[in-house]
Amino acid sequence: MAKIDILLGLQWGDEGKGKQIDELLPTYDGVARFQGGDNAGHTIKLNDISIVGHLLPSGFLRPGADMFIGNGLVVNPVSLIKEINQLKERDIDVTDRLYISERAKLVTYLHPFIDQAEEARLGKSSVGTTLRGIGPAYSQARGRQGLLIGEVLGSNYEERLETFIDFQMTTLGMYKKWGYEISTEKIAEAKEIWDKAVREMKKLKICDVSSLVRTKLAEGKKIMAEGAQGAMLDFDFGDYPNVTSSNTLTANICLGLGVPHTAIGDVCGVVKAYVTKVGGGYFPSRIKDEEVEKLFQEAGGEFGATTGRRRMCGWMDLPALRHAIYLSGTTKLFINKTDICPVDTIRVVTGYIDKNGQAIKSMPFHLNEIVDVETKEFKGWGKDVYGINDKTKLPEELVTYIDYIQSQVEDLGVKIISIGTGPDRNQSVSW
Ligand code: GDP
Ligand code: IMO
Ligand code: MG
Repeated sequence: MAKIDILLGLQWGDEGKGKQIDELLPTYDGVARFQGGDNAGHTIKLNDISIVGHLLPSGFLRPGADMFIGNGLVVNPVSLIKEINQLKERDIDVTDRLYISERAKLVTYLHPFIDQAEEARLGKSSVGTTLRGIGPAYSQARGRQGLLIGEVLGSNYEERLETFIDFQMTTLGMYKKWGYEISTEKIAEAKEIWDKAVREMKKLKICDVSSLVRTKLAEGKKIMAEGAQGAMLDFDFGDYPNVTSSNTLTANICLGLGVPHTAIGDVCGVVKAYVTKVGGGYFPSRIKDEEVEKLFQEAGGEFGATTGRRRMCGWMDLPALRHAIYLSGTTKLFINKTDICPVDTIRVVTGYIDKNGQAIKSMPFHLNEIVDVETKEFKGWGKDVYGINDKTKLPEELVTYIDYIQSQVEDLGVKIISIGTGPDRNQSVSW
């Protein structure tokens, strides 16, 4: 029986998971998503092509790679069909190798409105969600009100949907109390697009992905599981409520794909050489100097792949990284975006300080308990690292920086495998 290796983001998302999966895929037969939904935005760049996958696993530019959407996802048919069609426009047809779990959760045309309504209710303390309806889809699925993807093929689909839509309309109506109202025209418009997408989705391979993966593993096929979001956005171990509504850590692969823990192989973690975050919530290592943060945003093109929002930038955060490594069981580390170094001095956060000036020894209950950070300075390495593939050609300052990170995770049994020097496939250096 082959094992499933896993690739996860270890920060707050957008670590370059898409690029990393695409680069590693030649040694795999398939790639599987196990959580999240179209809140994800995974970019794959190959020469002039740059494609962002939201629901589709990052195997679309690797012909022959199977693509599995596990039961742990919440699937909006509109996004799914849009992505498939956008690929078709580039002569890439993934429909023969795309398998969607019948047990994945169906996102309706009302879920994004409920997400909007809830964010409006929260006002200043909103989570800053992607407004894709992810939170409401997971909570209503847990509440057993929702529908599974496989139900769209069932004989009582219309009836089941009607009951659920009635429930959702009542839920939406409740938000009038907080001033949120959505016009019937907007709902009708969304419904029409969604119904059409559901009809298209019915033609796809909706099946028992858990047993299909089991069969593939028994045949010795190698599958990579692809995390979405990041370890610090994990529902249980992130900074609740500033989290996503699914578990992003290794443990969720078993339940989000339907495989036993014994099927799990290597755990690969991806980080950026710095950190970014979008949405609300506390971000301990955020760069305090706005001008410096802006330099990173611009040099790194730090604008969300899903919502286009400006990403906040911070220094590499070692306590958070160690926390994420431990929780995910990461053994192999990939560090992207080392070509982005627009300043002369780089910092690494080495510790947190509480309001009494005391060192915080472990991740606090709420990140806002961290009032200051301890940092270590490193010399910047300039901008000419872009596209380098050869370690001997890297600036000494960058080697020093990466070796330092290695020394700080060594005791956790982690080895840095490669660093990214550009967004394109194979713009990387083995370590
Ligand atoms: P994901 O959500 O983790 O897949 O990451 P995103 O696609 O949202 O954001 C990562 C961004 O960084 C994308 O635009 C990638 O093309 C880009 N990227 C990934 N690795 C590198 C790298 O090593 N260098 C540079 N310059 N860009 C990279
Ligand atoms: P990838 O897979 C970065 C963030 C949102 C918000 C919080 C909850 O591309 O790394 P949600 O819509 O999930 O209910 O929003 O999570 N978030 C992400 N941030 N990258 C992502 O995905 C994200 N997916 C969700 O900004 O703070
Ligand atoms: Mg992303």
